[in-house]
Amino acid sequence: MKHRSCLSVVLAAGEGTRMKSSLPKVMHKIAGLPLVAHVILAVQADDKSDVAVVVGRGAELVEAAAQAVGSKVSVYQQKERLGTAHAVLSARNAIEQGYDDVLIVFGDTPLIEASSLSHARQQLASGADIVVMGFRPENPYGYGRLIENEGRLVAIIEEKEANEAQKAVGFCNGGLMAVKGAHLLALLDAVKNDNAKGEYYLTDIVALAHGKGLNVIAQEVPADNVIGINNRLELSQAEAIWQNRKREELMLNGVTMIAPETVFFSYDTIIEPDVIIEPNVVFGAGVKVDTGAIIHAFSHVDGAYVGEQVSVGPYARLRPGADLATGSKVGNFCEVKNAKIGERAKVNHLSYIGDAEVGADANIGAGTITCNYDGYNKHKTSIGAHAFIGSNSSLIAPVTIAEGAYVGSGSVIVENVPANALAIARGRQENKEGRAEVLRQRYAQLKAELKHKV
Ligand code: UD1
Ligand code: CA
Repeated sequence: MKHRSCLSVVLAAGEGTRMKSSLPKVMHKIAGLPLVAHVILAVQADDKSDVAVVVGRGAELVEAAAQAVGSKVSVYQQKERLGTAHAVLSARNAIEQGYDDVLIVFGDTPLIEASSLSHARQQLASGADIVVMGFRPENPYGYGRLIENEGRLVAIIEEKEANEAQKAVGFCNGGLMAVKGAHLLALLDAVKNDNAKGEYYLTDIVALAHGKGLNVIAQEVPADNVIGINNRLELSQAEAIWQNRKREELMLNGVTMIAPETVFFSYDTIIEPDVIIEPNVVFGAGVKVDTGAIIHAFSHVDGAYVGEQVSVGPYARLRPGADLATGSKVGNFCEVKNAKIGERAKVNHLSYIGDAEVGADANIGAGTITCNYDGYNKHKTSIGAHAFIGSNSSLIAPVTIAEGAYVGSGSVIVENVPANALAIARGRQENKEGRAEVLRQRYAQLKAELKHKV
């Protein structure tokens, strides 16, 4: 089949007043990614078709978010908010390039699946002129109703214009449509604003096209594909749907989760098969977890690579730049930031390892801290392979502890330690025979004297 060129027009000029936010609505995030970016990922999932984003307030922010995930994105400003047809016409210059297909999608409808969009485009390829994505909401109130006749879509009637019979129709406009590029501008230019809201309704192109004898059809999509976000409650509901989709996808792909409803992913989280994730784990952006790893309960993993057979947590925090090689361990109450942990190396308890490199098979004792920050600059700590850092040591960076070295517990290390050396940097212990009894008597007497005074 001939490749069909495609333009996706993303409408994102809405005020979003109900978000009660200083941010433009489409900049609010689900799974750590702005709504508008989710839409762009969906429209560009199959082919990197061109994208025109129609924006109002906060144009620069929206443009940056769109460019960050998409290619060939251009941005058009809708100066006045005169309705959805007017919004699409703001991208007239893009539409005039003459695309085979134009997808019109909403920036606040982030859960649209690429498969629904490509199905609509297939319908265009096989003869439809307009494909409208319809769904059956529990409560159709507020949606445009899809009026069908003999398999053709005849009109979309907005709630405010609908009569009782039309209001009784449960099949509703999801808002998104695919239109043959050759027809779109003429149809949009014919739309008038003589309706209840005084707006140019995109939905009016359906009756106009039908009147011209064009082939207009509705395609039913799952309701959760076309959920639109208007307030923070709906934002959280969309987040929940997104998280459930991701959990299902991962579990069916071989990831074990004991309580999946308590595990949260980012839009770009990669978890390989045969990973086990215990309850209450949160993944920030930029994480990959390799096969055989286990993430124990209550861990927070952000911008990190977790290698094969690695064990993390419980209660671990991996921050950006944490890079845990095969078979290594980061245990309870440990924080790792911008640090490479070598193969089989262990950071098991209550440590902070930041701006560091830890060699293979090294052992970092409980409570070890890399003192990487002096209030102005960050400095690096290098720990060689097979090194052993005794518990409760402070490593004042910049510092290097070479291969195979030993650091005695409780040391404050300010100078480099050569390979295979033992470094001890703490007060020396003195034992005073019999002194405990002397102390006990002294303290008991003091207590008696104090009581007497009262
Ligand atoms: C629209 C549809 C309705 C459908 C519903 C699905 C129209 C006329 N109605 O109604 O049939 O059931 O979506 O959710 O299309 N926008 C602009 N500029 C404008 C107006 C809107 O960019 O001048 C953008 C908004 O930011 C939003 C989208 O277009 O992303 C939809 O606009 P909205 O006003 O929310 O339309 P609805 O009344 O929900
Ligand atoms: Ca809406």
